Amino acid sequence: MPDVQATAQPTVTRREEYRAPDWMVPEITLDFDLGAEATRVRATLTVERNGPHDRPLRLDGEGLAPERVLIDGEASDAWRMDGGTLEIALAGERHEIGTEVVIAPERNTQLMGLYASGGILCTQCEAEGFRRITFFPDRPDVLSRYRVTMTADKARYPVLLANGDPVASGDAEDGRHWAKWHDPFPKPSYLFALVAGDLAANRDTFTTRSGRTVDLAIWVRERDLPRTDHALRALKTAMTWDEQTYGREYDLDVFNIVAVDDFNFGAMENKGLNIFNSRYILADPDTATDHDYDGIAGVVAHEYFHNWSGNRVTCRDWFQLSLKEGFTVFRDQSFSADQGSHAVKRIEDVRTLRAAQFPEDAGPLAHPVRPDSYQEISNFYTATIYNKGAELIRMMATILGEEKFRRATDLYFDRFDGTAATCEDFVTCMEEAGEVDLIPFRRWYSQAGTPRVTATVRHEPGSARALVKLSQRVPPTPGQPAKQPMVLPLRLKLFGAETGQELAPEELVLLSDEHAEIAFEGVTERPVLSINRGFSAPVIVETNRTAADLAFLSAHDDDPFARYEAMQQLMLDTLVAGVTHGRADHADVVEAVRHTLADETLDPAFIAEAVLLPSESFVGDQMEVVDPDTIHRARETLRRDLGRMLEGEWRRAYERSRANRFEYSPAAKGARRLKSVALGYIDASGAPDAASLAFVQFEHADNMTDRQGALTTLAGGTSKEWVAALDIFYNRYSDNALVLDKWFSTQALSSRDDAAEQVEELARHRDFTLANPNRARALIGAFSVNQRAFHHPSGRGYRFLADQLIALDKLNPQTAAKLLPPLGRWRRFDQKRARMMREQLQRILATPGLSKDMFEQASKSLE
Ligand code: PHE
Ligand code: ZN
Repeated sequence: MPDVQATAQPTVTRREEYRAPDWMVPEITLDFDLGAEATRVRATLTVERNGPHDRPLRLDGEGLAPERVLIDGEASDAWRMDGGTLEIALAGERHEIGTEVVIAPERNTQLMGLYASGGILCTQCEAEGFRRITFFPDRPDVLSRYRVTMTADKARYPVLLANGDPVASGDAEDGRHWAKWHDPFPKPSYLFALVAGDLAANRDTFTTRSGRTVDLAIWVRERDLPRTDHALRALKTAMTWDEQTYGREYDLDVFNIVAVDDFNFGAMENKGLNIFNSRYILADPDTATDHDYDGIAGVVAHEYFHNWSGNRVTCRDWFQLSLKEGFTVFRDQSFSADQGSHAVKRIEDVRTLRAAQFPEDAGPLAHPVRPDSYQEISNFYTATIYNKGAELIRMMATILGEEKFRRATDLYFDRFDGTAATCEDFVTCMEEAGEVDLIPFRRWYSQAGTPRVTATVRHEPGSARALVKLSQRVPPTPGQPAKQPMVLPLRLKLFGAETGQELAPEELVLLSDEHAEIAFEGVTERPVLSINRGFSAPVIVETNRTAADLAFLSAHDDDPFARYEAMQQLMLDTLVAGVTHGRADHADVVEAVRHTLADETLDPAFIAEAVLLPSESFVGDQMEVVDPDTIHRARETLRRDLGRMLEGEWRRAYERSRANRFEYSPAAKGARRLKSVALGYIDASGAPDAASLAFVQFEHADNMTDRQGALTTLAGGTSKEWVAALDIFYNRYSDNALVLDKWFSTQALSSRDDAAEQVEELARHRDFTLANPNRARALIGAFSVNQRAFHHPSGRGYRFLADQLIALDKLNPQTAAKLLPPLGRWRRFDQKRARMMREQLQRILATPGLSKDMFEQASKSLE
């Protein structure tokens, strides 16, 4: 059980109140006597007074009771507990402090600190989990060298791993054994890790650029070994890439990755011992989709890249979280782009940003990339810190250019190696090496909210001039009613509407005022504006472009992202018209899609992205008041028309990639993606053979991408094929938790009318459990992004979510709190829905013993 918090009096931590630590801990020795029921932890800390002061040593602890405290080797009672904190008055400048506690990994359902997952003992310490293991100044600016000894039952825990390099191991009495590890790099406590379990390794070696040989191992349960090759290959590719792209080499003799089934996030970058959610390691063609494969490569790379952006240079305090996360996401995005299509990767990343970050920035939980305060830091592992943070780095890279950006990152790594740095430090390096002034750019770190840019073009044929008028506005967000203009790097270009010629080469405009006007000379034909090419700034752009202009760009722009974007805008305008007027002219969209499908110069993966309609939620984001049912109807009507009018095209596209055998390559992935999209449109057309076509694909697929694609298509209807496929899928994969998660989430995402009821029933299924975060997210998380189902007019979706969150909070507050934000979007809905959503938030808040994680999310969501 998590500690019961005094929810009435939240403690707020403020960035401005940062103070250097009173005591440093250059060395720590940890001794673990491991057991699932009870683990004894003996710690010895070398502490050093940091500057002249007479304050006591204060060691954070959560749920710990000291059995012994030693000062310089002597048992002492010169200490007291202040809440969970162990306070020790010390006279000298340097002392050795010993503590001894007993913890219970098996009862740790929060999955923070030392816990058990399927018989494996493992740790998760970021952000503040180390204090659940031992007493320590648990803040990222206290860096220590760790020596760790683990002793455990040899039969149950034959493998013992910790950070750094292995030093020694041996057998002990009573069937026990021990291992010692030493990490030579000073690190903050959040990067501590250990693992004990019955694990098998997929091993390889990597030779670094300077000739160091590194032993690589991915540790899993024996039966999962055949599904670890992709992750291992991705790791080696990432290691090479970081040497070539950023000049960063690995620095220890071993690099271990462990996969566990119960994990609050995706993975964790513990020094030399990354611990992963098994969904980001395990893959084979039969059980993982292309999306899973890509996710694995991306997350493996992400955690590996943290070795420099996060570990060698860490964060001074948690307000600087984006220093490591934004930068590392940018690095993993660039890595993934280099493995395949840059255009498709950019489209995917922008889609994620719009689906997760824009709504966050527009709602009650909006916060700057560098927040000013928090109640519970776990709530700030958000799309804003990660994905918007990555966009900030990308904008600076755009402003500096490739060469200077690399010089700036070299300077950053060099100057701050071995220290705990700030976002300000990073920007300063960008300025110095880039020889640019980024003073106004810094507002991106302090101001929340997605900027809105208006761009209009006026043509003066007489003087052969074109005037592009730009203006920007940053909307108010909680605590920030008035904003200053941001610095927006906007890549733009003009095309001639008649000839299709490029009228002027691309320009990078830095919009830093509220208004600006750019003149183009020698413009003799009507210009069409291509703006925010490559999504060079994370903003919302409104233009006066007509449907014809957008159709033109979707066919002719030479920036693939801009082409995609023009099509999306055309679709969005059409859908919004359909929602507001009850009907819309679909001809422009149909013709633009027809054109894209017919363009043989295009990559099928790109085509698949370009012809996909914006999601119902994204359409909702454009509306003053979201009407989920009308949006659904408008979108389905457009889907049906696209399906019908282009049925021949969809069938041809489908047939073209049908015969392919499985291969994991960008081309094969693209073909599969287009095939699934085509199948969806054939189904939308209402063709009588659609369900059987999907069912045949489902049965004969030699890979999970095709199987899941078929299942998703069937999930939209009520056919007998759907019922049969669900059953077959369940029986075939009932012993594979990661695939069963797909079984749950496909149903939770279904567009069937009774999806909400189905989800309620699934929550009672014998395979459903809140104790496993992946399973909880597969059902509850997926359901709450199914806009129409979640916003069922009866309010049953809201009630369901609140019921689940209240139950989950008792087990795992961190995971529960992350699933709450959909309830906070009440302002965007009609009065009745808004009232029902608020009622559920109030019910959550009134729950006795609510965690501070949930308290913060729910109370802010009501404001
Ligand atoms: N630092 C991890 C990452 O992004 C995320 C994480 C945060 C994992 C907190 C666990 C707990 O790579
Ligand atoms: Zn990260």
